[in-house]
Amino acid sequence: MSQPSAVPVVERVDARNRYEIRVDGKRAGLTAYRDHGAQRVFHHTEIDDAFAGQGLASRLVQEALTDVRESGKRIVPVCPYVAKFLQRHDEFADLVDPVTPDVLRWLETELA
Ligand SMILES: CC(C)(COP(=O)(O)OP(=O)(O)OC[C@H]1O[C@@H](n2cnc3c(N)ncnc32)[C@H](O)[C@@H]1OP(=O)(O)O)[C@@H](O)C(=O)NCCC(=O)NCCS
Repeated sequence: MSQPSAVPVVERVDARNRYEIRVDGKRAGLTAYRDHGAQRVFHHTEIDDAFAGQGLASRLVQEALTDVRESGKRIVPVCPYVAKFLQRHDEFADLVDPVTPDVLRWLETELA
């Protein structure tokens, strides 16, 4: 008999500037951010190969962006996956700020 599939859990890890998604207690992926004033700038999303193609990135980003809303912050989608997700999820449109050259320069310094 097959086991019931584990429910993925998303957690914000402030000390590492990222949200992590866990399946059965194992870290399956993350979406990384830096805070720029009231803006949460998402710059990278990854799901481990072993968990790819199961919709985990979508679930992770959905929960992360919901947390941004609850935190009263705004979203800057530098990460191409987050940008693509937002094109398909109008419900976050009121929270999205554009990716500007200034933000990209700031992010480069932050990540250096
Ligand atoms: C991109 C990635 C996070 C997707 O993880 P996943 O859990 O398999 O994704 P999901 O099952 O939730 O969604 C798959 C969707 O992601 C899209 N996708 C895959 N790679 C992508 C990329 N680099 N940029 C944007 N979208 C991407 C697919 O086209 C697919 O879209 P569809 O639903 O319209 O077919 C994962 O493949 C990964 O870690 N890739 C390597 C790192 C990377 O390229 N990150 C994105 C840029 S920072």
